[in-house]
Amino acid sequence: MKNYIIHSEWQVVENEFVPENNRISESLFSIGNGHTGQRANFEEKYSGDSLQGNYMAGVYYPDKTRVGWWKNGYPEYFAKILNAANWIGLHLKIDGEELDLANARVDEFSRVLDMRTALLTRKFKASLPSGKQVEVCSERFLSIDDKEVGAIRYRLKSINFNGKIELCSFIDGDVVNEDSNYDEKFWIETRKDVAKEQAFLCMETKKTSFFVCHGIDTSVSLKGKKIIASESFTREKFVANTFELEVEANEEIIIEKYMAVNSSMYLLQEKLMGHVKSKLAETVKTGFDQLFEAHSKKWSERWKTADIMIKGDVAAQQGIRFNIFQLMQTYSGDDERLNIGPKGFTGEKYGGVTYWDTEAYCLPFFMATAPQLVAKNLLLYRHKHLQKAIENAGKLGFTDGAALYPMVTINGEECHNEWEITFEEIHRNGAIAYAIYNYINYTGDQDYLAPFGFEVLLGISRFWAQRVNWSEDKNAYVMLGVTGPNEYENNVNNNFHTNRMAVWTLKYTLEVIDYLKKEHPYLFSELTRKWSFNEQGETTLWKEIIEKMYFPYSAGKDIFLQQDGFLDKEIAPASTLDPSERPIHQNWSWDRILRSCYIKQADTLQSFYWFKHDFDTETLRRHFDFYEPLTVHESSLSSCIHAVLAARIGREEKAYEMYLRTARLDLDDYNNDTDDGLHITSMGGTWLSFVETFGGMEVKNGQLMLNPFLPKSWEAFAFRINFRGAHLEVRMAEELTIVNHSQADATIVVFGQKHLLPGNQRIRIENVKTP
Ligand code: BGC
Repeated sequence: MKNYIIHSEWQVVENEFVPENNRISESLFSIGNGHTGQRANFEEKYSGDSLQGNYMAGVYYPDKTRVGWWKNGYPEYFAKILNAANWIGLHLKIDGEELDLANARVDEFSRVLDMRTALLTRKFKASLPSGKQVEVCSERFLSIDDKEVGAIRYRLKSINFNGKIELCSFIDGDVVNEDSNYDEKFWIETRKDVAKEQAFLCMETKKTSFFVCHGIDTSVSLKGKKIIASESFTREKFVANTFELEVEANEEIIIEKYMAVNSSMYLLQEKLMGHVKSKLAETVKTGFDQLFEAHSKKWSERWKTADIMIKGDVAAQQGIRFNIFQLMQTYSGDDERLNIGPKGFTGEKYGGVTYWDTEAYCLPFFMATAPQLVAKNLLLYRHKHLQKAIENAGKLGFTDGAALYPMVTINGEECHNEWEITFEEIHRNGAIAYAIYNYINYTGDQDYLAPFGFEVLLGISRFWAQRVNWSEDKNAYVMLGVTGPNEYENNVNNNFHTNRMAVWTLKYTLEVIDYLKKEHPYLFSELTRKWSFNEQGETTLWKEIIEKMYFPYSAGKDIFLQQDGFLDKEIAPASTLDPSERPIHQNWSWDRILRSCYIKQADTLQSFYWFKHDFDTETLRRHFDFYEPLTVHESSLSSCIHAVLAARIGREEKAYEMYLRTARLDLDDYNNDTDDGLHITSMGGTWLSFVETFGGMEVKNGQLMLNPFLPKSWEAFAFRINFRGAHLEVRMAEELTIVNHSQADATIVVFGQKHLLPGNQRIRIENVKTP
């Protein structure tokens, strides 16, 4: 754990340059606009330790699988969002001596990421080995107003010398992924061009043939006078413009670098360079200040519907805003082919591709804070992959339209290659089904069911119906050889959560069928034909599975067991573990972990979270008290679910502790892994744990309910949500105020009482309870 980030309500700030923290800061200060994103690498040369990262959403490479022991059914490749061309480079020499913070004394360093406007600012004074001193201020943003545009304003002042400055402004396409399986380079150059102050580089990904074209324009001025570029040059995968100028002490040069980028995701390859050239010209004409103004305006619109305010606790305030900010930087929801990688655009780990995290943890944030289409696009992403999910199930021996969605994917094909996860961590299929229910329950968009929702549910239900088997011994249906969300157990039988997801999906699909038959009979019979759906035969089996599914249970403890035989383990709370052995996944052998009772993240409790209405509080309390003490929370996705459940059973301090852990996970580098990138998908979990823990928000049968409580250490909080056409602000202090900022009326159940809140009105409830 580290905590060098200065607490501030709207900013992420570091005010010292500590090279050992550089990779962590590069992650924390990342910027992105949903289409491109980058780590906070330096513009000037840096020869110290750094993970260079520039990413383009959707542009990936199928890196050939590397495993110790090949198993039939393994995918051929792991898709990776590639490290793309580095366009920020501004290398500077002062009388021949390179400005490189690894070889200079650095004073008054600060790096600030303003979350209101997504502006990254860096300032420092550097003394070079020769004694020459410079003062630098750089500002950089990736526009959310125009997803093809980025800009840098870099000022460099001579503090104590008269001398010659040489600047090289470049695009470098000769980049690598650190996690490349065979140390391969993934890009080939296709075209390049240089002009006086401009340079263009088009690259193609090997195998997948994505074409990406970057253009830069660099303008340099000194004392208000523009400096003409001295030379432009190119080499393989590299284009540059250079400038030479003389400065005197106290003079400042101002460099403005504009970038335009697009890819064959959106344009024909032969049109790319031409398009980027005209986009760049337009960008330069608009200029840094106006581009930034349009960009900040869009950011303030986004914040208007998504902000959470906490009064009286700056660390908590910064934590939640950071999570919201990073989610908004990662996914803008305007392209259903895109999704949310666990690290977003902030690192290479997990390949930047899609996991169940999206449906389980991120969807609620986008449903409640962005236009409805944004969340819908997350669902459509999976609908588009249905055929691949059927093929994927086919590879594992399933037939007749059974669909198994991949554990990890970018285009619908499975990429994961550890048998215990690829083949066995199938609860993910349930999460994808649950997301359909969750979306419709929240938005009321029943139309999504025909055909999209139904088709996906049918494929998944067919999978569950084939994946279970009848046990003569148990006289019940069982599910063997699975891995639940707790990946510290593999190949177990009857994981409670997985069995429950199967039964729930079958039940929900039956409800959906009833609805479709009633509301869309014609469409339903079309779908029946299209999918050769033997309604009578298939649903009879489903009903039998629903009725006769086996759930491991301990009568002695009156709890459902995570899996068969769980109580054979030696049970001791995680608090008895030697702290020097934690996290256990870094200190214990894998077999020891598997034999132990320790739980990586919510597993049985994930079902209690999702199916809250099926269990009473006492039952939840018994399960929480059994499982939480055994949980080591070694997945970033763990604390959020436990925070919500703790609040539900009235453990407000525990809820607060769990919440803080998820909210500041990256800012304080809790798990010592922020250097790899940020935990973007767990940030969705942070948001949901805020509104569900402190807001007590839930939606039951389409009815919005709130049960807010104010933690002791906060003076007030406020959050905003879109709900079925209304835009609501919930403000909690000594009294609770709910403001309807929209025209649409809303009905809300607050502390168990129904209120009608007409458009543009507010309700106030005095003397609300605080713990
Ligand atoms: C978690 C998974 C998750 C993955 C990506 C793993 O550590 O156990 O549940 O899908 O990370 O975030």
